[in-house]
Amino acid sequence: MSKNPEDVIRAEIRELKAYPVPDSTGMVKLDAMENPYRLPPELRGRLARLVEEAALNRYPDAGAPALKARLRRALGVPEGMELLLGNGSDELIQVLALAARKPDAAVLGVEPSFVMFRMIATFAGARYVGVDVRDDYSLDIEKLLAAIERHRPGLVFIAYPNNPTGNLFDAGLIERVIEAAPGLVVIDEAYHAFAGHSFLPRLARQPNLLVMRTLSKLGLAGIRLGVLIGPPRWIGELDKLRLPYNVNTLTQLIAAEVLEHGSVLTEQAAAIKLERSRLLRELQRVPGVTAYPSYANFILFKISQAGRVFEALKQHGVLIKNLHGSHRLLADCLRVTVGTPDENTAFLSALTRSVDA
Ligand SMILES: Cc1ncc(COP(=O)(O)O)c(C=O)c1O
Repeated sequence: MSKNPEDVIRAEIRELKAYPVPDSTGMVKLDAMENPYRLPPELRGRLARLVEEAALNRYPDAGAPALKARLRRALGVPEGMELLLGNGSDELIQVLALAARKPDAAVLGVEPSFVMFRMIATFAGARYVGVDVRDDYSLDIEKLLAAIERHRPGLVFIAYPNNPTGNLFDAGLIERVIEAAPGLVVIDEAYHAFAGHSFLPRLARQPNLLVMRTLSKLGLAGIRLGVLIGPPRWIGELDKLRLPYNVNTLTQLIAAEVLEHGSVLTEQAAAIKLERSRLLRELQRVPGVTAYPSYANFILFKISQAGRVFEALKQHGVLIKNLHGSHRLLADCLRVTVGTPDENTAFLSALTRSVDA
């Protein structure tokens, strides 16, 4: 009788490390691309009243029609396109990976990019193919097209802007990937609020394109809501893999209400973009730092002895993300989320002290 994990759990799962979430208690938290601003008190009061009235004894509204209608308007979903909602976009990546997993089919992504593309493909038992970007973090289109030809992936993920590099890939090159791909191409626009560029208008022209969004980076990371947008013939199939009631009642109520006051979030995003410019300028002034321009709400930068600097920042009470060791193109790289002006100043001052140490 088999009673050991080795006999039951797949080898590739046993080899995985769980997605790391470090303890940030009491720290300036600039590691997870959250919006640093809370909602205004008046809106929070409105949400409290909605929660008070919510029928928590009932299952959530399975199809979430009210929320979908708000999302259509707020995101500018093109006519004729359908929505699939997830418990964060992570869950939508999982639905996609499960749906596309065939014994011989590959899931393809560029590297470095959002780590969950690779991890979730592995969870689903799919063969993941990672194609490195160029040294300047732009798409290596020749390598990509060759990998598509060779592996014929059922699913391609491209983050636009990319995480952790912060750049927007060339849209013309992405179009070539969409045309060459034999299956679906998912453009993950998690950071759209800070980029302004989108593939949504291309949905009608590209039959194998899906666009993914999330409310997480916009200011609602705590309620977990991701949105996949595309033609009904794709979304209808994917919807079969969604667990019933995956978007809970509180998420539905809160998201719909906040979207009704959507300008709050766009004003916060505008403040974050302003701070992003300042943070980039000031980072570029720190001796030994190479900081990369970003279309997202974080900045990637290179600094010698990144691991030591990361630890020193922690000692100074500032938590960012250490990417050193995660990919050859991220050697000596750290990623900082854009926070409030005070948080960014605290980070810059801690960084200067860490470099001098
Ligand atoms: C490119 C990208 N997609 C998706 C996500 C996850 O978003 P969610 O909070 O909606 O699961 C992240 C989070 O860092 C991300 O960087």
